[in-house]
Amino acid sequence: MSLENSLSPLATPSFPVAMPHGEWDRQGFWNFADAAKEATEALAAQKMKALEDMPVESLREFCTQYRFFTIEYISDLALLLAKLPFGGLRSLLSQILSEELGEGDASRAHPEIYDRFLASIGVPRERLDRGLPENRRILGELTQELWEREPAFGVGLRGMGGECLCQTYLSVMFEHLREHPFMRENADRIDWEFWTIHAGEEDIVHGELTRAAIDRYIQDEPSALPELAQGYERSITAWNRFWQNIFDACATQRGAVS
Ligand SMILES: [Fe+2]
Repeated sequence: MSLENSLSPLATPSFPVAMPHGEWDRQGFWNFADAAKEATEALAAQKMKALEDMPVESLREFCTQYRFFTIEYISDLALLLAKLPFGGLRSLLSQILSEELGEGDASRAHPEIYDRFLASIGVPRERLDRGLPENRRILGELTQELWEREPAFGVGLRGMGGECLCQTYLSVMFEHLREHPFMRENADRIDWEFWTIHAGEEDIVHGELTRAAIDRYIQDEPSALPELAQGYERSITAWNRFWQNIFDACATQRGAVS
């Protein structure tokens, strides 16, 4: 099956699970969040399979596009921190932000680590800044909404979305990425550190800690639930669209690249 054909059923990604109507309660929220996460996992698995036999130049382009998410995630997380009340969630997210920025060592900042991975698979430095305009727009809109809306919306958008959901996509991406013949042949020369951090135990623990902290946040502020759910829904829709745009761009490129 061609890449284009394998993607056609996903051409218009939408939110995979209907949001319940009426009053929210804590358990109802987590049921909704779990169902949405499961549906996203299935969608990610279906999409990322195409990575295994993508032309190597498209694969480089695909991986390059993800870097813009890691960069914007950091400033959005800082913005969210500025808006949150004191408490466990704010402290935990500040720790995650510090790790994202290398805990005082700029060479350990996650975008830097990711760029070392890109260099090791043959992405030239001068191509690092070529983000898809459509995805830059999506990321810009998320930042704007984070700025304008309630902190709870931001928790759903960047707290849950970034930490719990991003991990899901990255694990699936890594699973298929490393099966690509180029990756297998060059495994010894590739800098895998970003993936060791993000597709392994460390990020799973982050996801679990974030979930527990958000649960306490909801208990302290039950009125935040509708905004939280809306932020999470927005995050999943944007995230699915973000990846779909990358797949579309790489599929278009396919014919042009030898
Ligand atoms: Fe990271």
